[in-house]
Amino acid sequence: MSERQTWVAQAMRLRSMAEPAAALPRVHPAVAEFRPGSYETPSFFVWTLGCQMNQSDSEEMAGQLLAVGCERAAAMESADLIVINTCAVREHAEAKVIGRQGRLAELKRANPGLRVVLTGCGVRESERSGLVKRFPAVDMFLRPDEEPELALRLGLVSAQAPVGLRSTATAATTVLSGRPVSAADNLAHNRATALAEGRIARSSNVSAWLPVVYGCDKTCTYCIVPFARGPERSRPFDEIVAEARSIAAAGARELTLLGQNVNSYGHDLPAEERFGHICTERSSGRKLDLQGRPDLAELMRTIDAIPGPAGKPAIPRLRFITSHPWDLSDRLIDVMAQLPSVCEHLHLPIQSGNDEMLRRMGRQYTVRHYRERLAKIRAAVPGIAISTDIIVGFCGESEFQFQATLGLLEELRFDTVFAAAYSPRPGTPALAMADDVPAAVKRRRLNELLARQEGVGLALNEAWLGRDVEVLVDQITPPRRRIEIDDSDAEELDMPLSAIPTLEGSAGERSVALAGRTRHNKLVHLAGDPDLVGHPVRVHIEHAGPFALRGRLVDAPDEPDALA
Ligand code: SAH
Ligand code: SF4
Ligand code: F3S
Repeated sequence: MSERQTWVAQAMRLRSMAEPAAALPRVHPAVAEFRPGSYETPSFFVWTLGCQMNQSDSEEMAGQLLAVGCERAAAMESADLIVINTCAVREHAEAKVIGRQGRLAELKRANPGLRVVLTGCGVRESERSGLVKRFPAVDMFLRPDEEPELALRLGLVSAQAPVGLRSTATAATTVLSGRPVSAADNLAHNRATALAEGRIARSSNVSAWLPVVYGCDKTCTYCIVPFARGPERSRPFDEIVAEARSIAAAGARELTLLGQNVNSYGHDLPAEERFGHICTERSSGRKLDLQGRPDLAELMRTIDAIPGPAGKPAIPRLRFITSHPWDLSDRLIDVMAQLPSVCEHLHLPIQSGNDEMLRRMGRQYTVRHYRERLAKIRAAVPGIAISTDIIVGFCGESEFQFQATLGLLEELRFDTVFAAAYSPRPGTPALAMADDVPAAVKRRRLNELLARQEGVGLALNEAWLGRDVEVLVDQITPPRRRIEIDDSDAEELDMPLSAIPTLEGSAGERSVALAGRTRHNKLVHLAGDPDLVGHPVRVHIEHAGPFALRGRLVDAPDEPDALA
């Protein structure tokens, strides 16, 4: 542990001993110091871009701020503190935030006490010196592994003066390929502390995120994630299970295990006698000694076994994302087939349908290998829904190679495809290759691919017509707005507005447009009482679009298992 980290850990410990989170006064003296005189309590707004891991990280940051007495603001405009949790996977994701700098500067003029903190994958050690220029409205930058220090660095936790407005101070980093990157080392420990102190503000009581492995060790040449997130670090097995138990006790109906490569969980943990029966081999990629170490399959078995009512799993829906073909082991396929709680959906990015492109992308598997894994899981879990990621227009991609990807869509028939045009990212190995597919060709290929997938997605969704499905309602559909599946530029849009149910002819007076997911991760629109949000309901599917289904509420039993 570095000197700074030791100091931080001590400050946190002393603080937690002296003033347990629950006993904190609503206005902490340090808050006044941070915002001299302007407001009694700084209210905060967290803007989260990117993947589920960012959403989970934002829950931790919000939890820290709530624990020291800050309050949530309803919108960015009314906040005293704005935390922007960035994504950097494509240039467009970063451009979104750069494009907001003018607006943020305006807000700061109107509210001189406003502070803006930028966190997430946009804060990379190797480019730290250029951050202030790119994000002029930002006061403080925190790498993903520095996020646990947010409240501390704002001076909200310790009685120390606020550190780091315009801060470029850094904690320890890891070096990857000769360059400093985020360190994932402390994240597991920090999560444990945050849990122990009740500092995680989950955005939903129904569907919970649970990070199990941080960072990425893979070799994809186009990807910035390993540089932004550092190497893979697994959380201790028992800690994850304990967190799952507390999530179950809080009444969650769905739990998603998270990792950039969630299925590589455990390879970096010590071998233990109790895991002696585990001897998995990687199905592709770099070989590792996995003997006797916990793996994702073991973790899911243990979480599935947490008892609920009538001896069924306490958490009825268990998901995991994102899996890498290197680690799609037979053990994992077995648990997907055997465990009642594990949902019938797998996200398995393929990226390209051509082996030479896969080689250049550093994916270290072949189309044949992917095909074999997919056949195996489809045989084990009949009807399983499969989603994937595809990049078009990567360095040197010929028309022939692109056509191979298109052909694969017809052959492998994915339920959902998240596709994006290749976007060169700073510091990645692919920068050594020519980004030689013209922008117009990338665009055309992307459109062609999405159009081809629409047909496949529609046909697969039509197979659900006339069936009753269990939908876990998770939102009231915002009126007259397209719904984005995520906040990246690879968003998949759901069905056209005309297909979203309206209030007319709907079930009951209080009826509104609702949406939720099936176990197969199908988005379903329905009309019903707003109180159904957070509950599993049975829906009769009456309409299928390429990206979503629409149906009629059949019943909404109190007991979710009644729908099984
Ligand atoms: N760890 C996950 C993906 C994380 S990034 C995995 O390997 O599957 C999510 C997706 O963004 C990737 O699957 C890839 O399709 C896409 N992506 C990553 N870098 C990109 C880049 N430079 N340009 C375009 N798309 C990219
Ligand atoms: Fe990026 Fe590849 Fe790691 Fe996924 S596996 S995060 S695409 S480097
Ligand atoms: Fe996620 Fe984007 Fe970072 S996809 S890991 S937030 S680069």
